[in-house]
Formats: sequence, structure tokens, C-alpha cells
Amino acid sequence: MREGQSAVIYRADYQPPPFWIDTVELCFDLDPAKTRVLNRMKLRRNPDVPQQPLKLDGDELNLARVMVNGQGTSFRMEGSRLVLENLPEGYEPFELEIFTTCSPAKNTKLMGLYVSNDSFFTQCEAEGFRRITYFLDRPDVMASYTVTLRADKQKYPVLLSNGNLVDHGDLDEGRHYARWVDPFRKPCYLFALVAGQLVAREQKIATRNGKEHLLQVYVRPGDLDKTEHAMNSLMASVAWDEARFGLALDLERFMIVATSDFNMGAMENKGLNIFNTKYVLANQATATDTDFSNIESVVGHEYFHNWTGNRITCRDWFQLSLKEGLTVFRDQEFSQDLAGEASARAVKRIEDVRVLRTAQFPEDAGPMAHPVRPDQYLEINNFYTVTIYEKGAEVVRMMQTLVGREGFARGMTLYFQRHDGQAVTCEDFAQAIADANPQSRLHELLPQFKRWYSQAGTPRVKAGAHWDAVTGQYELSLSQSCPPSPGQPAKEPFVIPIAWGLIGPDGREVASGMHVLTQASETLTIPGAPAGAVPSLLRGFSAPVILDFDYTDEQLLALLEHDTDPFNRWEAGQRLAVNRALAAIHGSGEIVLDNAFIGAMRSILRHRTLDAAFKELVLTLPAETYIAEQLDVVDPQRVHAVRESMREQMATALQDDWAWAYEHHKDNGAYRPDPVSSGRRALAGLALTHLCIAARSSGDGVWPGKAYQRFKDASNMTDRFNALSALVVSGQDLARSALDKFHCMFKDEPLVLDKWFSLQAGAPDRGGNILPAVRQLMQHPDFNIRNPNRARSLIFSYCSANPGAFHRADAAGYVFWSDRVMELDAINPQVASRLARALDRWRKLAEPMRGAAREAIARVAGKPDLSNDVREVVTRALA
Ligand code: ARG
Ligand code: ZN
Repeated sequence: MREGQSAVIYRADYQPPPFWIDTVELCFDLDPAKTRVLNRMKLRRNPDVPQQPLKLDGDELNLARVMVNGQGTSFRMEGSRLVLENLPEGYEPFELEIFTTCSPAKNTKLMGLYVSNDSFFTQCEAEGFRRITYFLDRPDVMASYTVTLRADKQKYPVLLSNGNLVDHGDLDEGRHYARWVDPFRKPCYLFALVAGQLVAREQKIATRNGKEHLLQVYVRPGDLDKTEHAMNSLMASVAWDEARFGLALDLERFMIVATSDFNMGAMENKGLNIFNTKYVLANQATATDTDFSNIESVVGHEYFHNWTGNRITCRDWFQLSLKEGLTVFRDQEFSQDLAGEASARAVKRIEDVRVLRTAQFPEDAGPMAHPVRPDQYLEINNFYTVTIYEKGAEVVRMMQTLVGREGFARGMTLYFQRHDGQAVTCEDFAQAIADANPQSRLHELLPQFKRWYSQAGTPRVKAGAHWDAVTGQYELSLSQSCPPSPGQPAKEPFVIPIAWGLIGPDGREVASGMHVLTQASETLTIPGAPAGAVPSLLRGFSAPVILDFDYTDEQLLALLEHDTDPFNRWEAGQRLAVNRALAAIHGSGEIVLDNAFIGAMRSILRHRTLDAAFKELVLTLPAETYIAEQLDVVDPQRVHAVRESMREQMATALQDDWAWAYEHHKDNGAYRPDPVSSGRRALAGLALTHLCIAARSSGDGVWPGKAYQRFKDASNMTDRFNALSALVVSGQDLARSALDKFHCMFKDEPLVLDKWFSLQAGAPDRGGNILPAVRQLMQHPDFNIRNPNRARSLIFSYCSANPGAFHRADAAGYVFWSDRVMELDAINPQVASRLARALDRWRKLAEPMRGAAREAIARVAGKPDLSNDVREVVTRALA
């Protein structure tokens, strides 16, 4: 280990803190260049651990003064930590006062206190508080906070922190102050402050017990007309958590603040959530249906953290999924409940599973694979992953499946009875859910079930069927395995709930049930099955596993037509498509879609009763990354070419049907982002894309003309962007002028400009044209690599979301990637390290890409003074 490099942290090394911090009084003199922070704490020794010095975390702080009980004291530095040895003996509380300064304007990492658009914001999770003051920066140290903010009144009229405003007033020299008291003890990662020129949409609400609460959404003055949907989502969240889990808002005031410079999506600081503008601002002119639905779920997510995360928090960061997996599960359930009807719930479920399978499965099979409860990390920020979040949510979902919906709600109640106000572990949660349901399979299987927390990798379930013509017995053999992952060569069997059904030859369901697979292999016997029955397995995606079953085309077509489980109905279509793609990739690379497939797609598209949203999902081919995961050796350009060819054939063969679909779904009356009308817009958009693709092959100008017209006339961003994207994706000449027009129309809307960058960087590659376009866009006056949203919209859209264009045989994509990783690392290591993961799956690449990718990673790894963030990602990639 080199000087200044920190070491790997292990879960097994957990020790309770040697000191408790009971109260924290913070006083800020806010100034962009030099902010002064006075931190007065009451501490006492933890009687349960041996006496030891106090070591406080700090990062990029200037220390001016340390006092103990009002007296100067000796101290020393250990790296960036402040060490105090001469503290009072015994267990009596003592006062520690620390005075530091920091420089928010220079804080490009966006961790700790920083400036964005002339306002102050904080981001403390996971370890940003130590960039504000010296502290025991760990989630199991919970304190009561009083915060005084002082700043220039004109520049910073709004001064916010957690809890309740108890005092405010004017000071000399045009300055003013505000004092906030948080009535709840909290870990320091939930601390927040905001100061700046902001305005708020306000809403008073009453919770069930009759208490009044004030909800506020703070934005920059010009953005107030984009806050209605966030406020509606917040009100819906408050109502939902009370109705579904009996969890009421515990604060008089709940605030959301939007900032355009933010590393992640949003942050659940107690009573003062700070959000990326992307997940707050929306109106029909600037935001798409997807934006609206993301806002709903992120607002819900952060609000639900108020109980799952804030009232009960994590003992240490290895337990991150305790709050994140559970809260993602809760926001998924929230969105499903708001969607209403069973078919709309299923659409949401399919979308969630699609994320899991295209992002988490590759993570679980790659160099960064880690258990839902990791055993080690170098940089905790690298573990805010799809595994912790989305797989963690699937683990919670399986618990609900095993104890039932009501049993799960009982478990949540017990969880809060036992642990409210505490910092706990994933095991504590699972134990509470199981104990509240002593008769359940979860209770019986708990020790084995917990392997979902400790073992990484995606389990594979192999199913085989045998039907006995004499007895009519249908036998399903089920066996499970899980590939090795870093540090885990062998795996024990998981508890895998498998929801199943059996579809008879007439299309009717003959039996259904839930089988809990616990052994390496088992047989499930279903009596009284007719000849030609088709199994529908893992319904609703009842476990986060890969299911292998050797379906024939006929069986998949039958499921696509008849399965009563909408998830598996969609899945049957995906399997038909993947099988065809794989055959072509393994074969000549040429593909001719058969009539059976085309006909089946036509029947879905023209179906009389299916929802438009569901049709759009079925008619969308599996993503290139999903197809790539099914291969041992990947040539991304070949995958891309095959998928493009499939899309062209679907476009041409179904041309009349697409035209019908477009005409019948394009008009939806006044804009509302509800599931029904957004589903119709999605299908119309998909139809338009296919019509433009078909037109490209035929050279016909009618549909591109209609798309251009639609682009100009659209009354909402969804329709407008879909039309623009149809032109860009199909490579129409009109795309250029539409893109220019779009930029001109929205030059003052940063979130729309992000879409503009991202559409161009993610467009299908035609003869290697995308990389030069991306390089050129980096010179665009609106490009700014320091703004994470903008960096993601251009660089990530190319490197992480456009495999066919990124994986070039000449390695130019990789060179570009390594340059950007290193450039970003000097500015913002968290953003850099996300980008670094674009090459996670390099080992699967075909030559010459494989060697070139390795070289690019090695180039990054060889750079001196890399951040921990990037260093961890690239060393693991090369290991
Ligand atoms: N707890 C936040 C959420 O999931 C995410 C914050 C992560 N921030 C970070 N810098 N790692 O809602
Ligand atoms: Zn979260």
C-alpha cells in the first residue's frame, strides 16, 4: 500500500464506537470561499468497550481550534484523523469544541458542503460529514442536532437544515441567521443544510391522527411551474405509507430541495431531502412519461427512508441494503399500488425486472460482484449498486412472498417495535419478519434464506419436465447452482420460491402453486395433467434467478398467447426473441425472422384487450446487454447488428400493423402521465420508430415526414422526444434539422439538453460515426464535464449505454473511455468510478476488443494518485 492510500475495510472487523456523541451544536458562517464551522459536541465514553483515544474522521478540513470543556487541549493527526488522548477519565459527558474551515466553492466532489448555482448544498452519505467537521463519521453514532446558519441575506435568503425552525433574524452587515433543531437523534450521514435563493411550493396536509404537517418543494425561482408532480408524489407517498404500513409522517415540516449538481438521484436527509433536479422538475413540456414516473418513485423512495433508514438505520455500511433494498422494495410496491389495476402492476413489475436483469445480473457475474451484504470494501461509495438496491429489494420481496402480504406488514410492525431509534443489521430485519410469522416457511428456513445476504452471484435453476401418460402425473425436476464469484468459489443452495402454473393444450390453466426450492435438486409432482401441458415457471419473477428450461417454440408461443401470468407472457416473447438472436450470433450472423414469430408479435400488437403499455414491452426486443449476457464470448457489434436486423424485419413485416398502432394510440386528449395514457404514448412512439426504420429501407419519405411534423406539433415532451428519437434512431436525414430545432427550443432547460446529448451519444452507430460525434459534442458550449448529469448524458450514454458504438475494433472507444475516467477522477471520483465500470465485462469480449479493453483498464490503473473509488474498480477488473 502506498503512502496516503487507504486500506480495505472488513465487515468482520466491526467494533462498537469507543465514544458516544449525544448532542451536536453546529454553527456555520457560510461563505463560498471559506466557510467557518463551529462544532460543539457532548461526548461520553462507551462503557462497553475498552478505553482508547478518540479518533475523529476528517477530510480536506482546515483545523483552527480544539477545546475540551472550555480549555485548550493537546491533539495529534493520524493521517486525516484528529486524535485526542488527554480526555477526561470516567464515563461522565464532556464537551468538545472544534473550529474548522472548508472551501465549498472548490468542492468538485460534491460530497460534504458544496456550491451549486450560487447556493449551498450538502451531501453526507456515506462519508461526507467528515468534510464538514471532525466527527465519528459512522452510522451507529446517533446524536441530537441544533444547527445555526449565518449568511448574507441577499445572496442566501433561504437557510434550511433538518427539523424545525426555532429562531431566525437579522445580523450586522446585511447578514441573517436561522436556527434549526431536529427533534430526532440521527447519524451524521443524515445531516443536511441548504442556503440560497430558492422558492417553495407549499402544501399543508393532515395525517390520520389529525396532526398538521407542512410539505415544501424548494427550487430555483424559474422552476416553480415544474413542482406540481413532485408535490403530488410526496402527498401520495405520505398517504401510502400510512395506509399500507401504518407509518405516519413524524415531522411538522418535510422539505425537498432540488439541485442540478448531484452525484446520485436523491438523498433522504431527515426532514430535508435533497434531490437531483432530474427527479423533481417536470411539466408536460419538458419531461417525458418516464421522467414523471421516475419522480414518483424517487420521491416515494426518499420519503419511505424516513422510516426505513432514518428511524431505523444501519449499524455499519455493510448493512446498506438493510435500508436500500427495503426502501426500493417499498417504492416498487408504492408505484405498483398507485398504478392500480393488475395489468398496470404487471407492467411495473416487468420494468423492474428488466433493470435487474440488464444491470444487476451482469454486475453479479462480473469483477465487482458482491453479496447483498458485502464483506469488504475499499470505498463505500462503490457499493451503492444495483446489487445492494435492486437485488436487495428482490430479497425483501421473496420474504413477503414467503410470509404473505399481511404477514409482511406484521413483520414490519415487529421490526419497528424492536428497533425504532436503533442502528441495526440485515439479520435483525430478517429475524423480525420471520418472528412475526412463526408458522411460515421463512421462519422454518431462515438460516438458509439468509444466504441471499452472504452469497454473491445469480443462481441458475434448471428445470426439466416429464409427463407420465398412464398416471397423468407431470413431474418437474428442479436443480439449482450458482457460479463462483470473487472470493466465493463454492456456494450453498439458496431458498428459491418458484411460483408456477401449468397451461393445458386448450390454453387454459390446469394447475398453479408455489414451490419453495431449498435443495440442490428436487422433483415437483403435479397430478392430473393433460397431454401437452406447458409449464409456466417463476411467475412474476418470484426469485432473482436465471431459469433454464428447454422450451420449444410451440410452447413459448402457447405461453405468449395464453399464460394467465402477465410476466411470463412477456417473458415468453423475450425468450422467442433471444433464441433467434443467439442462433444468428452463433451462426452466420444473418437472421431471417420466421412467420411464426412475426405472426405472434402481430397478434399481440393487434390484440383486442391487452394494454398498450404491455404491448410496448412485448414488442420491444431484449436489450443488447441482455443478449450479450447469454453469450460466453461477446462481439458487441455482432450483437448490435443482429438485433438491428431483427428490428428492421419487424418494422417491415409489420408495417401495416405499426401504422394501425400509431394511428390508434397517438391521440390521448389532455396530457396526464397516468399508466393508461403513458402506455398509449409509449406504443405510438415504438410504432413511429419502426415506421421510420421501415421507411429507411424502402426510401419512402412519408413516415419520416409525419415524424418530423409530430416532432414540431407535439403538445408534450413524450410525443416530441419519441418523434425526434424515431428520426435519429432510424438515421433519417431530417434528424439533423430536428436536433438543431430541439436544441434551440430548449436551450434554457438543462434537463432537456441532457436528453439532447444523450440521444446523440446513444444513437445506433453507422460506420463508426458516433465516437466522432461524441468528441465534437464535448466541445459544445453547453457541455460541462463537471456537472454530473451532463457528463452522464454524453459520456455514459456512449460508453455504458451504446455497446455497438463503444466497442470498436480500433479501440478508439476504450481510449476515449480511459481519458474520461482519468479526467473525471481529478474532478469527481464518484462519477469517475461509475464510468470506470463500463468495462466490467471486458473478459467476455471477443478479440481484438478483449486485449484492447484490458490495455485501457491497465492504463487507468497505472495512473498515480487515483482515487480509492476508481482504484478499487480497476484493480478488481484486472484481478
Ligand atoms: N441514500 C440515497 C438513496 O438511495 C443515496 C445516496 C448515495 N450517495 C452517495 N454519495 N453514495 O436514496
Ligand atoms: Zn435509498
